[in-house]
Amino acid sequence: MPGTHQVRTEITPGAVHLPRWLGPDQQRRLVEACRGWASGPVPMRHTRLPRGGVMSVQTVCVGWHWQPYRYTRTADDVNGERVAPLPGWLAELGRRALADAYRDPAAGDGYAPDTALVNFYDGQARMGMHQDKDERSGAPVVSLSIGDTCVFRFGNPVGRGKPYTDIELGSGDLFVFGGPARFAYHGVPRVRPGTGDPATGLAAGRLNITLRATGLG
Ligand code: SIN
Ligand code: MN
Repeated sequence: MPGTHQVRTEITPGAVHLPRWLGPDQQRRLVEACRGWASGPVPMRHTRLPRGGVMSVQTVCVGWHWQPYRYTRTADDVNGERVAPLPGWLAELGRRALADAYRDPAAGDGYAPDTALVNFYDGQARMGMHQDKDERSGAPVVSLSIGDTCVFRFGNPVGRGKPYTDIELGSGDLFVFGGPARFAYHGVPRVRPGTGDPATGLAAGRLNITLRATGLG
């Protein structure tokens, strides 16, 4: 993991951005893992929304399957299959992320993320302002980005509007939101096509992986 020279910006208390936290090899390995999950047992797809729309991002989940607005073990809105298990190395990466983000070697102790949502953004995809609130746990969310840079809007727990801060999330960036920032609204207003390095294994687009603890048994 990077040393103490790592750039670290606290956007709001509990919300921390560490640019280029993942090295090139880790990014390549994650892209490979995501490619595997995207092909099955539950294929990556555009999530259907309750009112008939579809999300512009494509998603595949591991550990627990998320659909608006709950977690289940089987992907009942896709093909009914049980999602792939969350590998131990990914949970461990989450623990290291917390230790680095909060500059406290013990910050990851006891963190046991049990789901990862893998989102793929093509050049047109966006994500509206929302809270991650389907988890029954206040444990931090760990977000890893690979590929094209995006604008990430990080707001407040009260509503979708201001105050919010727009930052650029590039390839290898870590963003953690926990503590007072855990239930802040956030979204992705735009992706910057063509900014990623194909050496990650991702020829185009943006991959984002969020680790969460569902609080479910
Ligand atoms: C999310 O809010 O679940 C995804 C955020 C991102 O793509 O950076
Ligand atoms: Mn979210």
